[in-house]
Amino acid sequence: MNKKPIILGIESSCDETAASIITENEQGMPTILSSIVSSQVDVHKEFGGVVPELAARSHMEKIDLITKKAIDESGIKMKDVDAIAATAGPGLIVCLSVGLSFGKAVASSLNKPFIAVNHLEGHALSPKLNSELNYPYLLLLISGGHTQFLSVQGLGNYKRLGTTIDDAVGEAFDKTAKLLGIEFPGGPQIEVYAKKGDSKKYELPKPIFHRGGCNLSFAGLKTAVLKISKQIKTDQEKYDLAASFQRTVEEILYKKSKIAFEEFKKMNKSNKNKFVVAGGVAANKRIREVLTNLCKEEDFEAIFSPINLCGDNGAMIAMVGLEKFKLKQFSELDHPAKPRWPLDEDAAFLKGAGVRL
Ligand code: KG4
Ligand code: ZN
Repeated sequence: MNKKPIILGIESSCDETAASIITENEQGMPTILSSIVSSQVDVHKEFGGVVPELAARSHMEKIDLITKKAIDESGIKMKDVDAIAATAGPGLIVCLSVGLSFGKAVASSLNKPFIAVNHLEGHALSPKLNSELNYPYLLLLISGGHTQFLSVQGLGNYKRLGTTIDDAVGEAFDKTAKLLGIEFPGGPQIEVYAKKGDSKKYELPKPIFHRGGCNLSFAGLKTAVLKISKQIKTDQEKYDLAASFQRTVEEILYKKSKIAFEEFKKMNKSNKNKFVVAGGVAANKRIREVLTNLCKEEDFEAIFSPINLCGDNGAMIAMVGLEKFKLKQFSELDHPAKPRWPLDEDAAFLKGAGVRL
């Protein structure tokens, strides 16, 4: 019997310090032995957002302890690790540098392969941690920094079908929460507020809803929320605005996903098409429901990251590490930290003034 690979994954691209040990079971299914995530909410709360220098300092203080905890909880010994995978981008450079340097140092001291991982690929492969998922599949990546439809053809092989031309959807959730006076990080609270409100109370804009293929835009929505938030006085009005915002996002994602389905079908001939939704915003229960319904209507299989693996974590980084390890795709120890690292390097840059859709 061949020894199953054991991978250490390290994540520090933004405000979560995370480490995880994964391996495979006898059937070849990925298995999480430990996954430790330390959030920096308390560090950034008083500033209402992530402060890069403070985030980097916090990563430096915790990265070795978090990794030790991941090793201890997994029940394996450090020397049993077969490869070390660490996020190399995209993200805040001062934050990335901490986990990346630490991962390289561990790899060289153990004399084990080092694997640089694209954080977005981590999100893209995260559903593989709890379900069998073969290529190709359509991916909707919805996080704090990214909103994209990608055709995932294979490991490291991505074709972008659509992207936000301004804000990420997670950013829109966070900004709306801030305008409603919800403490940082407010995004996840919007769905709690939304449950108590009337989703039809406010009609909010849906930019590029009827054009631009499956590209998306959220900046106009945020501006509309800003205007209304200045006039509202009661808690009930806050709940109504949260509910109206949540409904608008659902409508945008439903419509744009439907367009992405058509584009995906043109590129891939498969008996059963798969739609994977990953990233922090994929934890939103209503969005999961709406997209599950769309999949039923369109005969796609809906696959979501497990809720606890939607946000940033080390297990998804180890997951990419595991696939790369099996293909012997190792990285050099001088691999740079990359603040910008698109999954589809050939896709046009579609942000800012002058973009024509
Ligand atoms: O993937 P992630 O942890 O970090 C990035 O790579 O960006 O995503 C964080 C984003 C934040 O914007 C957060 O507000 C959003 O995911 N988020 C949610 C929910 N949980 C997290 N947005 C809406 N509903 C949620 N339940
Ligand atoms: Zn992320």
